[in-house]
Amino acid sequence: MCCQIFRAAFAAFFVGVFFGSGSVLAASAENGKAAFLKYGCWQCHGTQGQGSVATSNGKVLAPDPLPYEAFSGFVRSTDGAMPPYSEKILPDEELTDIHAYLLSIPKAANYKSIPLISQ
Ligand code: HEC
Repeated sequence: MCCQIFRAAFAAFFVGVFFGSGSVLAASAENGKAAFLKYGCWQCHGTQGQGSVATSNGKVLAPDPLPYEAFSGFVRSTDGAMPPYSEKILPDEELTDIHAYLLSIPKAANYKSIPLISQ
């Protein structure tokens, strides 16, 4: 009995390591950038996820994208102005890559950090 519980806990732990966080660790911003272009996200959201009032209701995807759960939930099930992308069209690996790409986009520098402007 006791061993069974341990075995189950161990199995859950390893499944988590290999299939859970493992896929997140493998996410690549570089591949994500390519996928962002390939799946046409850029056409409405701009190549840097900056968005525009005309094409994405002013929604900005980066910097500071939504946490992955909310991000993928939206992409998979939106039924508003944005078309939903099912897993068949856009596999999870590529969606995590797209998210990694959006996370990698730096915030704009504070203008006060630019010496020429502070003179
Ligand atoms: C045809 C234009 C169009 C395309 C293509 C498109 N989007 Fe969107 N997206 C929108 C619009 C418009 C909204 C705002 C939707 C709303 O307010 O209901 C939006 C909203 C979002 C949001 C929600 C942001 C927030 O802060 O609420 C995410 C995330 C998102 N898009 C990701 C993507 C990704 C990833 C792709 C490519 C796989 C993509 N979109 C492709 C038009 C588009």
